[in-house]
Amino acid sequence: MTKISDSPALDAELLLAHCLNKNRSYLFTWPENTLDEAQASCFNSLLEKRLTDYPVAYLLGTKAFWTLDLIVTPDVLIPRPETELLVEVALDKIRNIKTPKILDLGTGTGAIALALSSERPDAQITACDYSSEALKIAKLNAKNHGLSEQVTFIESNWFSNIEGEFDLIVSNPPYIAENDPHLLQTIRHEPQQALVAKDTGMRDIDILIKDGDDYLKNESWIIIEHGHDQGAKTLESFNKKGFSNAETRLDISQNPRLSFAQVIY
Ligand SMILES: C[S@@+](CC[C@H](N)C(=O)[O-])C[C@H]1O[C@@H](n2cnc3c(N)ncnc32)[C@H](O)[C@@H]1O
Repeated sequence: MTKISDSPALDAELLLAHCLNKNRSYLFTWPENTLDEAQASCFNSLLEKRLTDYPVAYLLGTKAFWTLDLIVTPDVLIPRPETELLVEVALDKIRNIKTPKILDLGTGTGAIALALSSERPDAQITACDYSSEALKIAKLNAKNHGLSEQVTFIESNWFSNIEGEFDLIVSNPPYIAENDPHLLQTIRHEPQQALVAKDTGMRDIDILIKDGDDYLKNESWIIIEHGHDQGAKTLESFNKKGFSNAETRLDISQNPRLSFAQVIY
């Protein structure tokens, strides 16, 4: 039998709580309660979809990232907990800068931009995506968290509509190779333009590195999330382009997860 989920009990609890319009703890507080017809039908229909490997986050319509609950639809990548490392490193890079100007390239749900904005209300953040559908979701998330004033959303093919210089550029671009077998697994439900990049997954990372320094102030940093086997290639691209202090960070599973480098004129 094919295994659908690593956490079947948790999935079922989240789906049931969603149908009851309660949080998970309600299930343990009131274990003797029974479901009415509408609740049972809602739960069965979500379970059926989940059995087709459809992601829980899309069924619930939300995903927690950093301290924020974000709306997700099949138009956007489901934010991953691993990306919180990028937020941590980003906050560290701007800790001594007042009203930092930050650019988030490929914002999706707005996860990175909104997490940074929630921690640094003084930051002026520009968040771009080339998907207008993703931008609609990101704007909604900004509004729900009262962050619409701090974050400006722009439709842009990477830097095409971006102007000015920033204190920090962050990006979690598509980085999965076109023939990667993972694309046949659960992530097949997520937008392919959010996941897949040409040149064995390096095309978008290389574009960001090639053009990024034109949009960075002197001594500013660019941070890019990448696949576990792309750390060395990313560092090589940074060094080739003349960036300084390039470094890779490992995630909690000890996999290279992101790399950053600094522009020094
Ligand atoms: C891996 S997802 C990251 C989403 C979000 N930043 C996160 O970490 O959850 C990559 C995002 O880049 C966007 N993207 C892909 N190619 C792009 C391009 N050429 N210009 C702008 N955005 C692009 C996709 O639409 C998608 O939202």
